[in-house]
Amino acid sequence: MIPDTVVEEVRDRADIVEVIGEHVQLKRAGKEFKALCPFHAEKTPSFYVVPGKGFYKCFGCGESGDVFSFLMKHVGLSFNEAVEKLADREGVEIPRDAPRPEDDALRPYREAVAFAADFYRRQLLDPGTGEKARRYLEQRGIDDAAAERFLLGYAPDAWRSLREAAHAHGMTDEVLETAGLIKTSEKMAEPYDRLRDRLIFPITDVRGRVIAFGGRVLAGDATGPKYLNSPETPLYHKGRELYGLHWAKGAIRREGSALVVEGYMDYVSLAAREVENVVAALGTAMTPEQAALITRYAPQVLLLYDSDAAGLRATFKSGDEILRAGGHPMVVTLPPGEDPDSVARAGGAEVLRRHMDDAVDVLERKFQILDGRGYFEDVEGIRKALDGLLPTLRAAKDPTLQDIYVDRVAKRTGVRRETLEAEIRGATDGSRRVAAQRVERPQPSARGGSPGRPGRDGPEHLLLLLMVRDTGRIRAAADLVPAEELRGVVNRELYEALVRGGEAAEELSALPMSAEAGVLLDELRGDRTELSDPDRMFWEQVETIRLRPQLDRLDELQARLGDADPSEHAALFAEKAELKRKLKEKATELGRLGAKVSNRYRRYLKR
Ligand code: CTP
Ligand code: MN
Repeated sequence: MIPDTVVEEVRDRADIVEVIGEHVQLKRAGKEFKALCPFHAEKTPSFYVVPGKGFYKCFGCGESGDVFSFLMKHVGLSFNEAVEKLADREGVEIPRDAPRPEDDALRPYREAVAFAADFYRRQLLDPGTGEKARRYLEQRGIDDAAAERFLLGYAPDAWRSLREAAHAHGMTDEVLETAGLIKTSEKMAEPYDRLRDRLIFPITDVRGRVIAFGGRVLAGDATGPKYLNSPETPLYHKGRELYGLHWAKGAIRREGSALVVEGYMDYVSLAAREVENVVAALGTAMTPEQAALITRYAPQVLLLYDSDAAGLRATFKSGDEILRAGGHPMVVTLPPGEDPDSVARAGGAEVLRRHMDDAVDVLERKFQILDGRGYFEDVEGIRKALDGLLPTLRAAKDPTLQDIYVDRVAKRTGVRRETLEAEIRGATDGSRRVAAQRVERPQPSARGGSPGRPGRDGPEHLLLLLMVRDTGRIRAAADLVPAEELRGVVNRELYEALVRGGEAAEELSALPMSAEAGVLLDELRGDRTELSDPDRMFWEQVETIRLRPQLDRLDELQARLGDADPSEHAALFAEKAELKRKLKEKATELGRLGAKVSNRYRRYLKR
């Protein structure tokens, strides 16, 4: 927060004619100045600047305000940025709050990454060391100005050049490792630089501070992945950052729309060609945090991913996140085999802008694809198409947009609005299944993941189904899964009843249980779904339920790492590492048992 007194002082000191005059051609008109309005198209000037009162007003479109609002609306700065910019120019000092404790805790890492950015930059500029990388940039059409603006650098082809330089500046291995700059390995006595012989793209936070790096191999035949990125560190949480946002935010505000591309090269290539309202999500679908971040700057988000299957999945996942964040996602489609960089290089910004102008609403894009595959030709197809469309309808948080979407889907599929609305709310019909589902406690956490409806295919439901099908499994379950681990109230009731019945549970219907549990039991007994490998499935459900608290804890740690006071990070990281180690051990053990590790579990081990 900048104190009001300081804001007032800056407003007083700044010359509004001078500030606006830098962007608009002003002509004197008596005591005032006038110009063609920068906020709407006109042929005769109706935009006035009144220096004595420190404001501007357009009598054509009604825009008005002071120096700050001019910079906000015309240049795209935030209020604080506008005040800071003018304070700087007028020599007004903005009192900084005393450094917060978390800033102190993070300072060593900040220093280390800032040092590294500078180091990599110097290597790129070094006549000998950086030659190869400079040639590569040239070949990819990135000029010196762009390389400078985006702080590009080069990590030399040596095992420890950064580490040694950092040591000479008194930085320790511990700090360098936590900052993601060096790695240790059992195979090597000494830690070594994570990024070697790569073109370096520093990743900054919204305020422009370097927090992490991406490194691209120079030659096609080099070893290792094409891009290598910093790991999660106390400074860098991948899912919360958007590459390039710091440089792009002004343009994004100004244009009211942001273009999301996949990669570093796409970003740099476009930004260097004056398509400035761009960010890169760095290769994956957007997270809820990224969606919330980008929609803070602009309501409209153009998604430009690869048009292959993986790219489309990422597009629609991102689209749903943007919708949930209250924004409006559109999809840009390039000719097959092209990416934003290749299009911009071949045809210039102009051709790319044409593709951006052709962007279609995310729901429309789904229609196009489903249509192309013949989904709307028969009832069965429409049913399946609806499954693909409903997540987008549900995600649309903006009520007007949701209304429009429902309307369009109703028209295209012939399904009644009311039915769609019921589907959106998640109700299917008055079946017993719904009743059983509703009483399940919501799963904790599930930030970023889809919570998944605890229903027919949840582990608890499956476990019960398998127990009912073969009562011989009841005892094994009873030994391994305490009833408290079941979260669905009715599921637990039925489970307890089965366990209590034990061997005698042959006569299931005779077991005493609540009416709701009885209904569930009937449903399970009536379920004729064929299961390919029921024994394996049984063990999977048992393990999934047993591991669930730990998996939830991992989710929670992951979320906490995002929000927590950085002084707590070390402890959270340590707990996460320990938990992952345990789960990995478990995975090996399960592997020996011949059980397939459940999906959720496997996904975690990859993180
Ligand atoms: N990516 C990554 N790790 C990889 C491959 C890709 O992190 N091993 C991420 C990078 O952010 C990359 C983006 O995914 O920029 C897109 O990857 P890709 O399409 O393979 O590369 P391009 O952006 O086309 O890069 P280039 O033009 O340099 O080949
Ligand atoms: Mn490319």
